[in-house]
Amino acid sequence: MLAAPRRIIIYLLMTKPLMINLHETAAIIVHGGVGGFERDSDGCASAAGCARAELDRGNDALAAAIAAVVAMEDDGRFNAGSGAILGLDGETIEMDAAVMDSQGRLGAVACLRRVKNPVLVARDVAASPHRMLCGEGALRFARVGGHADYYQPSDKAGIVHRALISALAPDAGPFGMLWNYQLPPPEPVRYACDTVGAVVRDSNGHFGVAASTGGSAPALSGRVGDTPLVGSGFYAGKAGAVTVTGQGEQIIPHLLAHTVYQWLAEGGAMENALQRGLGLFASDLDIGIIAITAGMAGSASRRGMPVTLL
Ligand code: GLY
Repeated sequence: MLAAPRRIIIYLLMTKPLMINLHETAAIIVHGGVGGFERDSDGCASAAGCARAELDRGNDALAAAIAAVVAMEDDGRFNAGSGAILGLDGETIEMDAAVMDSQGRLGAVACLRRVKNPVLVARDVAASPHRMLCGEGALRFARVGGHADYYQPSDKAGIVHRALISALAPDAGPFGMLWNYQLPPPEPVRYACDTVGAVVRDSNGHFGVAASTGGSAPALSGRVGDTPLVGSGFYAGKAGAVTVTGQGEQIIPHLLAHTVYQWLAEGGAMENALQRGLGLFASDLDIGIIAITAGMAGSASRRGMPVTLL
């Protein structure tokens, strides 16, 4: 008989890790982005509940991870889907998302505009002849697949954008020099960036991962971070699943998700692998990692990060 479902809602502070031995056949971890707020932790719990419901209906780890990320995209408080941040022009929203599982499915979208759930378009890419679509082609692919036009910037995105613009230096720095939006530039800045993600192990021992983001700010139009790049923002294989959060420009050179996955696949302990992953970065960089294997689920971050393990 299976143990009763457990739900652990946690707000990780600094490098205090969460490590759980998996006594159940299935497990789910959802994060709301490094630098996220404790008050938003209930969104992760609700998303994990959606993933659990998917498993209870007999669907697999990838379907559950996608269900969690759809819930996070629809929440509006996280930088993904309905909560995605605005580009520097105050209008453009470009989103990235990805899915992968241990059964060989892999799909991603980059710089996708005007859809409600980029992670569902990434799921559809996984069922297409391709692995990744971007920009205009991704948008047309989404419409062919029935993803309706959607453009409703959240109130939070507007507040974040106004704060960003008001913090800009008198000149727009490199973003002014390289400006490629249609509207003229305002001025830069502090960085804004976070991502949502979920990793799941189902009762058949399959692993799934899904991730989604509105990207980072300030950023040029067309910028792609780690989230849709296999091995950088996410990875899943026979040994487990990993997804990460933080500034893509820092994460990409380390292929962070695959690097941590590889350590776990080689038999490394979960806590060691996560701390080694954080240790690849300067101590002032915000990085978060969640991972799951057959025997362990773990999470670690440099700054506060809402996380639920179910
Ligand atoms: N990690 C999200 C991004 O850099 O876009």
